[in-house]
Amino acid sequence: MRLVIQNDYDAVSQWAAAYIAKRINAFCATSDKPFVLGLPTGSSPLGIYKALIGLYTAGKLSFSQVLTFNMDEYVGLDETSPQSYHRFMWDNFFQHIDIDKNNVHILNGMAQDLTAECTGYEQRIASCGGIELFLGGMGEDGHIAFNEPGSSLRSRTRVKTLTRDTRLVNSRFFGNDPGKVPATALTVGVGTIMDSREILIIASGRNKARALHTAIEEGVSHLCPLSCLQMHPKAIILCDDDATSELKVSTMRYFKELEGNGIS
Ligand code: GLP
Repeated sequence: MRLVIQNDYDAVSQWAAAYIAKRINAFCATSDKPFVLGLPTGSSPLGIYKALIGLYTAGKLSFSQVLTFNMDEYVGLDETSPQSYHRFMWDNFFQHIDIDKNNVHILNGMAQDLTAECTGYEQRIASCGGIELFLGGMGEDGHIAFNEPGSSLRSRTRVKTLTRDTRLVNSRFFGNDPGKVPATALTVGVGTIMDSREILIIASGRNKARALHTAIEEGVSHLCPLSCLQMHPKAIILCDDDATSELKVSTMRYFKELEGNGIS
């Protein structure tokens, strides 16, 4: 696992966008062999989406042969709801780039049969050849996608009940009323994310520092789903200085040296 530390949120966003662009461009995708990209919502990826839009506008990147799978969606919000992740993705990213709308996949939290929706999502990912690169954020408690602490580390796409903490943190998008945050969501599983050929998780701000410490400096645990990255052959945690506030000096030195040596 690599830990890449940048000065601040903007530097994290620029680094991630440049990395994603490099991976897509090097892949030389075609319609028979598209680049399959996993994507998150939240405040963390907003700067990355802006930077990727900038690269597209400058003619340095195209999404015409890119297929996307989003991580999660609330149950019970339709696509037009301002808080839905469908709306978030189209407003902040997809409508500004050259992606084919048939290549965008987002879980449908309004599906009649939610279990079938989740099973179908896993099948679609598999039929597209699996995910090449999964970009993700992390919760203050170490959750990834909506895999809350306690999630099985082998979980697949499913319905998940949100913790009180997550509903509290996400209530900022629901008029600061945790009661208005849906109690359940559809989410890819930890196992689904771990099956990706590469994972890039971003963490910005002091509020992520505690979970980052647990994920990196403690053992693999279902109580901190992000810690599963320790077992992935090609994973990067990309964070800013504030998010490293709880890491040991020796840990920082170790990962900085690895980056300096070009070894991971
Ligand atoms: C939500 C999403 C996660 C995201 C997390 C952190 O719970 N389901 O995918 O990583 O929030 O969001 P933020 O980047 O806003 O801190």
